[in-house]
Amino acid sequence: MDNSDTYLLNFKGYYFGRSFVDTDLLENLEDFEVRDEDVFLITYPKSGTIWTQQILSLIYFEEHRNRTTHVETINRMPFLEYNVHKADFLNRPSPRLFSSHLPYYLAPKGLKNKKAKIVYMYRNPKDVLVSYFHFSKFVATFETADTIEQFMKKFLDGKVLGSLWFNHIRGWYEHKHDFNILFLMYEEMKKDLRSSVLKICSFLEKELSDEAVDAVVRQATFQNMKSDPRANYDRILKCDVGIRTDEGHFLRKGTVGDWKHHLTVEQSEMFDKVFQRKMKDFPLKFIWDINEEENSNHSPK
Ligand code: PPS
Repeated sequence: MDNSDTYLLNFKGYYFGRSFVDTDLLENLEDFEVRDEDVFLITYPKSGTIWTQQILSLIYFEEHRNRTTHVETINRMPFLEYNVHKADFLNRPSPRLFSSHLPYYLAPKGLKNKKAKIVYMYRNPKDVLVSYFHFSKFVATFETADTIEQFMKKFLDGKVLGSLWFNHIRGWYEHKHDFNILFLMYEEMKKDLRSSVLKICSFLEKELSDEAVDAVVRQATFQNMKSDPRANYDRILKCDVGIRTDEGHFLRKGTVGDWKHHLTVEQSEMFDKVFQRKMKDFPLKFIWDINEEENSNHSPK
């Protein structure tokens, strides 16, 4: 375990957020007892975690859908490795929903019996980078960077919570046969939320009425989540985590292609070169601009 960094904790080659992580929990993570009915949402940070947490909570909990209770989404679907509210995982009734940024090799071994379900949400890494840059400026427990250039260096070195984006997605994808896993794309969800919700329901074997699906879709739009205190985590960031400024929001823009407003042509080309080298022959598609069709290992200039 590397203790040299103020913000990050290196455990078995992967960077965790130092201030939220419980080291005893880390040591026992691989042996965490998984139940067949468990559902895990796995993401690299800033890839649409909170959005998918909201969708899964709405699918599973009728009272969440009907707005009859006010449990915050984070408490319905806590992070396995960052159990900030000290949820009692062992006595939690099934189905238990968990969120996680873990890499495939640190995930509980029990997931490999392929009974529990995993939803892996991914997003084009230039938008991840931009979202992460803003989040790091906003949230006090992340190391801030003055410029996107500085942040891009750390991101491409994997010196951030979540380590290297390329390794995270490749690791999970290349080991997908070991797990019961559905890969979902942020940009596809953005293009057609209802179809993505139906795809998730089908994977989870949850049959919802048309009205219930409508309620899920309605409450998972960016605007509705932004104004819903259970879903937008503004309170959690302010009170439990700590923020540097009152200006920011967890739900910042929620768009595809915002990187075009932040990266210079040179920075973008530099990123492309690394992307093409690291993601060569990687079969998953990426969407870099909402008006463009999917293209695989190429990002648009
Ligand atoms: S974290 O900190 O890792 O949990 O962050 P994460 O939730 O993965 O990612 C945050 C980004 O997801 C956007 N978001 C949404 N986009 C579209 N629609 C909805 N409903 C939605 N909810 C969250 C959020 O705005 C962050 O992206 P940016 O680009 O910063 O706006």
